[in-house]
Amino acid sequence: MMKANLKKIMAAALIAAMAFLMAACGGDDQDGEEGGNVPTYTAVTEATFPPFDTVDEDGNVIGFDMDLMNAIAEDQGFKVTYTDMEFDSLIPAVQAGNADMITAGMNAEDEARREKVDFSDTYYDSGLVVVVKEDNETITGIDDLTADMKVASQIGTTGADSVNGLFNDGKIKEAVILNGFDTCMLQLINGDVSAVIIDKPVAQAYINKQADKVKMVGETLNAESYGFAVQKGNTELLDKINAGLKNMKENGTYDKLVEKWFN
Ligand code: ARG
Repeated sequence: MMKANLKKIMAAALIAAMAFLMAACGGDDQDGEEGGNVPTYTAVTEATFPPFDTVDEDGNVIGFDMDLMNAIAEDQGFKVTYTDMEFDSLIPAVQAGNADMITAGMNAEDEARREKVDFSDTYYDSGLVVVVKEDNETITGIDDLTADMKVASQIGTTGADSVNGLFNDGKIKEAVILNGFDTCMLQLINGDVSAVIIDKPVAQAYINKQADKVKMVGETLNAESYGFAVQKGNTELLDKINAGLKNMKENGTYDKLVEKWFN
């Protein structure tokens, strides 16, 4: 008798708990604010750009950009999922509303881009450098690139703008514009191209891992600053990102993430 009652009570409690859990888990998407859920935004990136954007052994998109955005998201009460795609597809994806934001080490100080998307406050100062093979003795900077050379960079990037500019000015033989920076570096190591133009912190991270393969030469070519991008007019999301970014800089989280990814 006692036992049967206890069973009934436990069964009822279990059903109640399950109903509660199901309510709590349901609708975990953008309009998930109902039911006490936090909204989830979709971010796109191109993940051959460590330490900003890369993938782990299981294929998850990770990096400084994701850690920083996740910290911002936690602070501001939202969640983010990340998708890897080609760099020149990122802005079109956000413009079309297929993604909410870009987290991709993207230079925010680019007029053509600013006409298409809105950028957050900048979160990392960077610049482009020329990278050559470690044993290259002839190229000591951008002025040593000559009309018989091929130079590579990634499609849609500021590096590609620079390489295309060199080609249009007749300074190099071919602008080799590739989908991934990983492929650019492989082509350099294989001797298919003479140089790669790439963001300095990414070049530095590569050299830190493979010191004997490539080196940076000459001066930094430009100054750029990375920002997160959202669809034009999406001030709701942009305000949250800027508020969270400010908090992360003030509470030391930003510095901890720099320490984690750049050392
Ligand atoms: N900073 C450069 C740009 O804005 C390169 C960014 C490349 N980022 C990437 N995730 N592949 O064009």
